[in-house]
Amino acid sequence: MTSTHTRRFRSQNWFDNEERIDMTALYLERFMNYGITPEELRSGKPIIGIAQSGSDISPCNRIHLELAQRVRAGIRDAGGIPLEFPLHPIFENCRRPTAAIDRNLAYLGLVEILHGYPIDAVVLTTGCDKTTPAQLMAAATVDIPAIVLSAGPMLDGWLDGELVGSGAAIWKARKQLASGTIDNEKFLQIAAASAPSAGHCNTMGTASTMNALAEALGMSLTGCAAIPAPYRERGQMAYETGRRIVGMAHEDLRPSRILTRDAFLDAIVVNAAIGGSTNAQPHIMAMARHAGVEISPDDWMRHGHDVPLLLNMQPSGEYLGERFHRAGGVPAVMWELEHVGKLHSDRPTVTGRSMRANLQGRATCDCNVIRPYDRPLREAAGFLVLKGNLFDFAIMKTSVISDQFRQRYLQRPGRENVFECRAIVFDGSDDYHARINDPALDIDEDCMLVIRGAGPVGWPGSAEVVNMQPPDALLRRGIQNLPTLGDGRQSGTSDSPSILNASPESAVGGGLAWLRTGDIIRVDLNEGTCDALVGADVIAARKAEGFPAVPPSQTPWQELYRATVGQLETGACMELALPYRGVAARMPRH
Ligand code: FES
Ligand code: MG
Repeated sequence: MTSTHTRRFRSQNWFDNEERIDMTALYLERFMNYGITPEELRSGKPIIGIAQSGSDISPCNRIHLELAQRVRAGIRDAGGIPLEFPLHPIFENCRRPTAAIDRNLAYLGLVEILHGYPIDAVVLTTGCDKTTPAQLMAAATVDIPAIVLSAGPMLDGWLDGELVGSGAAIWKARKQLASGTIDNEKFLQIAAASAPSAGHCNTMGTASTMNALAEALGMSLTGCAAIPAPYRERGQMAYETGRRIVGMAHEDLRPSRILTRDAFLDAIVVNAAIGGSTNAQPHIMAMARHAGVEISPDDWMRHGHDVPLLLNMQPSGEYLGERFHRAGGVPAVMWELEHVGKLHSDRPTVTGRSMRANLQGRATCDCNVIRPYDRPLREAAGFLVLKGNLFDFAIMKTSVISDQFRQRYLQRPGRENVFECRAIVFDGSDDYHARINDPALDIDEDCMLVIRGAGPVGWPGSAEVVNMQPPDALLRRGIQNLPTLGDGRQSGTSDSPSILNASPESAVGGGLAWLRTGDIIRVDLNEGTCDALVGADVIAARKAEGFPAVPPSQTPWQELYRATVGQLETGACMELALPYRGVAARMPRH
């Protein structure tokens, strides 16, 4: 069939294949039953997938059911043919045992769809935490032109004249409930007030972080991430995104050209400047590894640690998503970083221009929300990478260290940034909840709460449980945070300066497996170390006793996940998937 288009698309192997006209007829006929004509499918126009992440059980992304109409309009206006299909749902707050187990499942499903169906390019509809990395991982694996459309955050939540942000308000209210300053009714009111509209979490939790990083990587149109879901600009962005992906299909502008090492290093820098979620660490690692890019633990320190906190948004700062968007969003933060030479912005993006060109004229209009680089909210706000005899790798989010925590643990005379604590060890969160208020544990300010069995294999999926709150008695005395450590994760909306994502996890024999309650743990932030002060002979004897048991898998996927997953340090990837980069180049058989 003749075509006036720039190139022959892979979908034509299905719809315009003279050698297998029998198969072509079968491929074509069923699309007709909702009105698509064979002529459209055989016209040589690119077929654009819309990976639909919204549904009734994916409420953070549900706005995409409406936005898809504007995406379709954009695709049609630019001369493409849209085909919308579902992504495996991921809902952070509701999925048990943890939404993290679904990131690799949604990834796997999307790879199969993009490879096995006649799709030439794809719009990735992102929002809730793992929906962004899952789709970018898949786009990197398949390597067809792909563009991110964020759902956008909910409107700002308000209660009694104060901002109440997703997650952040809950962590605070839980402590108030435990210390007896609010009742159950008030707790529910606070939770409801923090979720006033369609959209994803309105704090700089994992959702806002990962959408900001998708934009920083160059995978969405400029300014896409921060537009609140209900704003008119969100629908307009959906339309422009639909238009642009058609151009990308013609240009064959694929993720492999955009997801470079420079792009990931910039994402690490941006993550520090926005006070991004600790979940960015495994997700950046996973996206980078699926894109064939190597990021080392050292890169987090060398490129990210010294970057100042510029964005004044909860949980590190005061404001929520609407103010971030009005202040200029991700481009305004990147403009600050670009102007002091912190970015590698001579790199391609989905716009077809360089990141530097995208950032032209994008300075902030509100320096209270997005601070100038030389007047930050906090210096050196990136993650601190730690290691020692308990783990090879863990991170600490320094941008959320409170003054109270700093004074109590980090500013002791004569030993700045060094502290020692007595370990209180919990085997998973049930054990924590059962025993945290047990007077026999005698927990005081000199204790560190440790949780194990919370990693990718142990949980399974790696749970957001490391931000353990102190016992009620300590909360009543005004002690808001104890040092915590664990082989799980914590919510991106938490303001706990935990030591987390410890790898290897206890379930695969990491050091936390032999730790015992009462051991002294020494943390030295100057040296980047965390060690239990336990002799080698004692450690050997304890190792001989075996590891703590993990709960059995409850579903087939849990078992498959456990058998294939790596550690948080390296992104909790499905390890056997990594060699499959660029699968679109290998056409599936008829
Ligand atoms: Fe879905 Fe926060 S729970 S974005
Ligand atoms: Mg979360």
